[in-house]
Order: sequence, then C-alpha cells, then structure tokens
Amino acid sequence: AEKAVVGPLVGAVDQGTSSTRFLVFNPRTAELLSHHQVEIKQEFPREGWVEEDPLEILQSVHECIEKTCEKLRELNVDLADIKAIGVSNQRETTVVWDKVTGQPLYNAVLWLDLRTQSTVENLSKRIPGNKNFVRLKTGLPLSTYFSAVKLRWILDNVGQVQKAVEEGRALFGTIDSWLIWCLTGGAKGGVHCTDVTNASRTMLFNIHSLEWDKELCDFFEIPMAILPNIRSSSEIYGLMKVGALKGVPISGCLGDQSAALVGQMCFQDGQAKNTYGTGCFLLCNTGRKCVFSEHGLLTTVAYKLGRDKPVCYALEGSVAIAGAVIRWLRDNLGIISTSEESETLAKEVGTSYGCYFVPAFSGLYAPYWEPSARGIICGLTQFTNKCHIAFAALEAVCFQTREILDAMNRDCGIPLSHLQVDGGMTSNKILMQLQADILYIPVMKPSMPETTALGAAMAAGAAEGVGVWSLAPEDLAAVTMERFEPQINAEESEVRYSTWKRAVMKSMGWVT
Ligand code: G3P
Repeated sequence: AEKAVVGPLVGAVDQGTSSTRFLVFNPRTAELLSHHQVEIKQEFPREGWVEEDPLEILQSVHECIEKTCEKLRELNVDLADIKAIGVSNQRETTVVWDKVTGQPLYNAVLWLDLRTQSTVENLSKRIPGNKNFVRLKTGLPLSTYFSAVKLRWILDNVGQVQKAVEEGRALFGTIDSWLIWCLTGGAKGGVHCTDVTNASRTMLFNIHSLEWDKELCDFFEIPMAILPNIRSSSEIYGLMKVGALKGVPISGCLGDQSAALVGQMCFQDGQAKNTYGTGCFLLCNTGRKCVFSEHGLLTTVAYKLGRDKPVCYALEGSVAIAGAVIRWLRDNLGIISTSEESETLAKEVGTSYGCYFVPAFSGLYAPYWEPSARGIICGLTQFTNKCHIAFAALEAVCFQTREILDAMNRDCGIPLSHLQVDGGMTSNKILMQLQADILYIPVMKPSMPETTALGAAMAAGAAEGVGVWSLAPEDLAAVTMERFEPQINAEESEVRYSTWKRAVMKSMGWVT
C-alpha cells in the first residue's frame, strides 16, 4: 500500500507511575496519530514500601514503541518520518544499576515509598548550620518523597549496591536516566544523563547553579561519581540503538509534571496547570524567579528548553494520591473493576452523603508535609454504600487540589481565575464538575488529555539539530478546550471544604 504522506512526526515516551505510554504526534497541529499503553505492576513488599521492576519498566517502553509503530504501519505511515523522541517520566523514583552488566542492582524505589521515614528523621537531626540549608539550595523540604534519601537507604541496606559502588560499577538515576541509558546502548555505550527538571527532584541538585551540589552530596553521603550528567530539557542526548526506531535521536527529557506544563503551553509567568495522574500536581510558572513558598509548596525547575536557553522555575503543590485512590478501590476493595466505573458509581448517587475519604496512604504531601497521616474514611452511616465511597474518593482529589490552589494563591498574591487541567482522570466528567464546584472557578480541559507526552514531544521536536516543532500556539491547532463552570453556590462549596479539613485533621498523627 502507498505510504500516507504526513511529514515529520515526533514520538514521546511517558513513563508514569501506573503505566507507560508511547505516543506519536504531528508537530504542525499536535494531532495524536497513534499510541500504546501498558500498565506497570507495583510491588508492596512491606507496609509503606512501594517498588517497581526497572526491567519491566524498560520492557514496557520497548513494547509501547513497537506496538505504536505497528499501528502506524497499518495507517501507512512511514516510520522514517519520526524525527525525534522525547522522554517524560515519574519523578524522584530511584534506580541503581551496574554499568558493566546493564542490570539493575535493586528494584526501583518509588517516589511514594515511605521506608525512609527514619532516614529522614536522622538526617534532619544533623542538618549543618542553617536549618534551611537543604531547602534553600534545592527548593524542597527534607522528606521521604525525594531521591537523595531513597539512595541513602539503598546504599545503607543493599550489599550488592555498596559493592558495585566500591568497584566503580554503580550508576544512579531517576527513571529518565535509566531509560535513556538503556535506549542509547546500555552497557555498550549508553549515555548517562538527566535533565535539570528531573535533577531538581533528587535533593542533590542546586537549583540556582544548576549543578550537583558538593555540600548536599556530602550531607547525604552520596558519591558524586554515580550521578548522571546534567543536560537541558531539549537537546540531542543520543540515538535509539534498538527496535523499530533505531537511529532516531532522543532529544527531549522532562519530569512528567514539567512536561505537562510545557504541553499546556504555560510559558508565561503566572500560568498554571494541574495534572491528575497517580498523584496530582499543580505547577505555576514563576519565570526566571526562584520563588520560595510560605505555604508548603515546593520550588522546582520548570524547564530549560535548550542548552543556551534560560531556566524557568515553578511553584509546585504536590498531592501524593489522586488516580491511586481509584486504583485502590479497584485492586484493594474490589468495588469497581475498571477506573471508569468510579464515575458510574458516583453518578448513581451524585453525593457522598456526608462521607469523607482522606487518602493519606503515603502521609500527606503539600501543604501539610505530614508523614504521620494515614488514610481515613469517615462520616459513615448504615446508609453509606460503595457509590458514596466512590463519590468521596473523587471528591477527595478535588479537595486536595483546592488545598494546593489556596496555597498557590496565597504565595502568588494574584488568585488564579481558572484552572487548566490534564491527565487520565480528566476524562471523568463528574470529577471535572466537582473540581469546578469545589474550587469555585472554571476548569479548562484540553480535548487531548495526554499533555505530558505532548510536552516531551514538543521539547524533543524543538531541539537544536531537530527543529521540527516551533513551540508557537498555532502548532496546537488540534487541541480544543472544554470548560466546566461551578454549578453549586459558593456557600455550599465552603461548607463541604471545611468539613473536608476536619477530616484531614483526623487523619494526622496516626503513626508515631
Ligand atoms: O513526583 C511524582 C510524579 O512525577 C508522578 O507522576 O503522573 O505518575 O502521577 P504520575
């Protein structure tokens, strides 16, 4: 069959906590041509521990690329039209591997994992000099969330890793580094790098100098030789060494939340987006200014789209559990068999009937940073059924977003007039309406929810030496916006929100 003439295309790997995707876009319109998705198995070896297998993650990337390419071939698309590949990834998740064998030396310790609680307590007792030393350099509070403490734990507890470090064979990376190293050749010359956005989540990276920080590495006792090279978010890192896209440059790399900010074109100071994935992350671009929050938000690197381009920063409100609560209803309670069913159940009742669900499975992140919190479902009566619990789970995602939006508005001084959203959960119409009701501002959802992958593709297509994406708003012609207006009155919205806050207080101090 004759090949369809479509011109240059750009692919993106989106390696999220729950699943991996590969998507191919047309850079002239941002139209999504084809994609494939594979769910990732999570392991919970002990209470509070969350791991994934780095080889399974890598395999899922290969599978997604190959399946997407098959679908493109069926559409008569010439694979040679794919000019670049971007990578976006779950951030902070920590991998250590052997550069000689190419094998991981331990499972990936996930961002959600809580095993480092005592590591964090011990470290916080010996912060040198200024108590804000870590936060001033990294923009982050000392917490189980970030890579440095996970890496410290692995070095302390996994003999194989200690040995490999001593023998000069160990490499550390977040998922972007692991994937790029493997895809560009692995043990046979793979490129060991990360971009500034991913580096800014390790807690070893100085967000002002944009380099690994010797004092931080000394404090966490991390050997600097195992760290990846730091690069911008948009430049050619290396070429694909295997599979249907062998020879294509990998030229974009962004932590998934930064990628979504780019995919939503939030390039101006004050523009913000909220992504509903496993967790929920609200990022507001603060431009070249590194703004420090007074209300529990993080300061992070938003992007640096080219070696010679300026770095932009963001304020971030991070919520650990969003989509994960729906997965929990499915896998742990078994009250739904697909995520979509949460919408059907919630719709049946249209209210939680006074039931509130605080899914503090990994403690509470922003704005509380409270590791002692654990999940609670309260306000139950004999009348409560699974529909109300599903409704309360969706409402919890919206309340948590309200908490970080309030913090953002306080830090920025100018309240957001609407909220741009994206991510898998935004296809849930009840969730979107609830979000508008609880925030009491309009919620704007793009017709193509895969904004994270789009952002990584944009960074890859815009890289020097690729140059197929101009990053102009016209290039997003295929993306239209749907708007959800608040439908309840402000008073009702406030009453529900203040009851939620009472429930949050009850979730705290659960573990001591
Ligand atoms: O910081 C963790 C975040 O990057 C995970 O994103 O999309 O897997 O919820 P997601």
